[in-house]
Amino acid sequence: MLLHIPEVLPRDQLAGFRERLARADWLDGRRSAGHQALAVKHNQQLADDDPLARELAAQALAALERNPLFLTATLPARIFPPMINRYAGGGSYGNHVDNAVRVLPDGTRVRTDVSATLFLSDPEDYDGGELTIDDTYGTHTVKLPAGDLVIYPSTSLHRVTPVTRGARIACVFWVQSLIRDDAQRTLLLDLDLAIQRLNRSGAEPDVAVALGGTYHNLLRMWATP
Ligand code: NI
Repeated sequence: MLLHIPEVLPRDQLAGFRERLARADWLDGRRSAGHQALAVKHNQQLADDDPLARELAAQALAALERNPLFLTATLPARIFPPMINRYAGGGSYGNHVDNAVRVLPDGTRVRTDVSATLFLSDPEDYDGGELTIDDTYGTHTVKLPAGDLVIYPSTSLHRVTPVTRGARIACVFWVQSLIRDDAQRTLLLDLDLAIQRLNRSGAEPDVAVALGGTYHNLLRMWATP
């Protein structure tokens, strides 16, 4: 499932970060790259302990926890906190699949089921920098307004095309889902959204209750810790 979730971070919240990001202390993005990614990753990122990175990551996480579409689409068990990266001056990230497991500072392992990019720059502010994702339905190109999020299966081959003007700043993070399998997760999202529509329509409340039960029983059957 590739899903666009609009307005995760409100514009007024973003505005406060823009100026600080413009004069932030950017480091070489290869610091956090795995062996395979080293050759293809050409970007910059903020250190995990940079106060600006921590503040922005905390606000992004708080916004995600309040976002009903994000929660029902990802069914998070754990979230690997956002890293803030920047592409400029031809910077790009070639074809790769994200590492399967990431380790938190306390040693907790996070299996990456869902990859996410929260755009912090507006598309008018840079050329290139498209997130390009291959899946069984073809190739998708994503370039969203600042504050919008895209999620996609971490199993996907993807890349960021070179930024030839301006700078593209984004948060990237990963979700370990209660539902490991993307097809099962997609089915649960479709079912949940249909039940929500049924509830809003006010028709046949008993049917909505029955389908709600089926939703939770499927979730119980498939969920892994
Ligand atoms: Ni990636």
